Amino acid sequence: MDVSLTLYAEHEFNASTFTSRVITSTMSDLHSAITGAIGALKGPLHGGANERVMGVLQEVGSPAEAEPWVRNALASKVRIMGFGHRVYKKGDPRAVYLKTLCRQLAEESGQQDLEEVADVIETIVQDEKGLPPNLDWPSARLYHYLGLEVELYTPLFVLSRVVGWSAHAIEQLDHNRLIRPRSKYVGPGPRAWVPIEQR
Ligand SMILES: CC(C)(COP(=O)(O)OP(=O)(O)OC[C@H]1O[C@@H](n2cnc3c(N)ncnc32)[C@H](O)[C@@H]1OP(=O)(O)O)[C@@H](O)C(=O)NCCC(=O)NCCS
Repeated sequence: MDVSLTLYAEHEFNASTFTSRVITSTMSDLHSAITGAIGALKGPLHGGANERVMGVLQEVGSPAEAEPWVRNALASKVRIMGFGHRVYKKGDPRAVYLKTLCRQLAEESGQQDLEEVADVIETIVQDEKGLPPNLDWPSARLYHYLGLEVELYTPLFVLSRVVGWSAHAIEQLDHNRLIRPRSKYVGPGPRAWVPIEQR
């Protein structure tokens, strides 16, 4: 648990941290920055992924079912939770580290089958799509081996990342300037306006 909380604590400008920084930059309060960050984090493409990972592992059930499941998921172009990362294209070092701990805990609790299921899926996703696992892939198993309910996975992530969000808020306030990116309109040019009663 200590290792997982440390690994989750801070990760530069991920979506939730960026959210907290934008809110802080408006000179809103820390509570709002953290609340906004939680909203960004709970999405399945960000911190909500490890809950979905556990769902996948439970759905697959046994090592024999893993290969057909993953090949079918890839053929159906389903996004496999726990794989891929915007920044780590060649592998997430945090995932490599947690996998070692998963191995130990699986052995201690006699749940090596789950490690086998994860291995099959990992190998095939890597070979077929070139996508390495991210931290959420082993962390789901780790929490499972620790006897935690799936509903606690995202709150645990929040518990840890609140450190990073708060540090970013403090850093932002040290030299604050409103974060206000521009957008570039690329749609159609001006069109004639038709009064609503003539449409
Ligand atoms: C994290 C994530 C959003 C980063 O995505 P990204 O680097 O911006 O990549 P994109 O969303 O632009 O996807 C690029 C391609 O890889 C594919 N891809 C990326 N992650 C994938 C995944 N987990 N499963 C299957 N395909 C995936 C996309 O479908 C896309 O394929 P295409 O070009 O054929 O359409 C993405 O990898 C993902 O959705 N992962 C699953 C959710 C997850 O584990 N989140 C936790 C992140 S720490």
